[in-house]
Amino acid sequence: MKDIEKIKMIYEGKAKKVWSTDNPDFVIMDYKDDATAFNGVKKGTIVGKGVVNNTMSDLMFTMLEKNGIKTHFVKKLSDRETLCRRVSIVPLEVIVRNITAGSMAKRLKIEEGIVLPRPVQELSWKDDEKGDPLINDYYALALELSTEKELAEIHGAAGEVNRLMKPFFDGLGITLVDFKLEFGKTADGVLLLADEISPDTCRFWDKETGKKLDKDRFRRDLGDVEDAYAEILSRVESGIEG
Ligand code: TMP
Ligand code: ASP
Repeated sequence: MKDIEKIKMIYEGKAKKVWSTDNPDFVIMDYKDDATAFNGVKKGTIVGKGVVNNTMSDLMFTMLEKNGIKTHFVKKLSDRETLCRRVSIVPLEVIVRNITAGSMAKRLKIEEGIVLPRPVQELSWKDDEKGDPLINDYYALALELSTEKELAEIHGAAGEVNRLMKPFFDGLGITLVDFKLEFGKTADGVLLLADEISPDTCRFWDKETGKKLDKDRFRRDLGDVEDAYAEILSRVESGIEG
């Protein structure tokens, strides 16, 4: 493919900018160091986060593609930039949980760290103004956020991503607690896994020490944030090379 040119910024989210290119089928993701939590209420910077999340997402999407998951990933362009297929994002956040933590533990008033005998999938309506409220398949259909066929594909792909990522991280000495996925549709209607897979969007606990190696260090003011991001990336890199 010939070199693709960045044309203009078409979207700026909390953690990434998206640029149009001279080819309408492709966009460039540009990862920032900005960090937010609790729907933008807490703001900060995690130095080097953009580089970690870009690099790690590309490695994870490559691993998933090799195992039959269709993703928006095309090619890494630089430390912070990746070429992706242009998609329209389905306004759903799909959360997969293997262990109780975060909003699930809070909402159900149960402890964090309980290993679930089978994974849970949750849906949120991706809408910052509403605070990404928890919904379910019935709401997604009634509010016309997605079709029945898309929902079936989304749940199937999310389950498969979990079946691939859990053993991958386990081999790196990391427990994959939970994670969030987003999906998008290309102009010709193909559903692709999109957004990112990074310490911003997953919970990772070190299997030996229990240390959190993800954005909870920022959300909960646990310190050592940059080190945790660097640590998880270096383990993923060693897992991919080895
Ligand atoms: P939660 O327990 O706060 O609902 O988070 C579940 C998972 O989803 C966790 O791995 C972090 C990720 N997540 C996002 O990627 N974006 C978000 O806006 C939220 C709330 C969670
Ligand atoms: N809720 C997101 C997170 O904690 C970020 C945000 O909403 O500002 O990952």
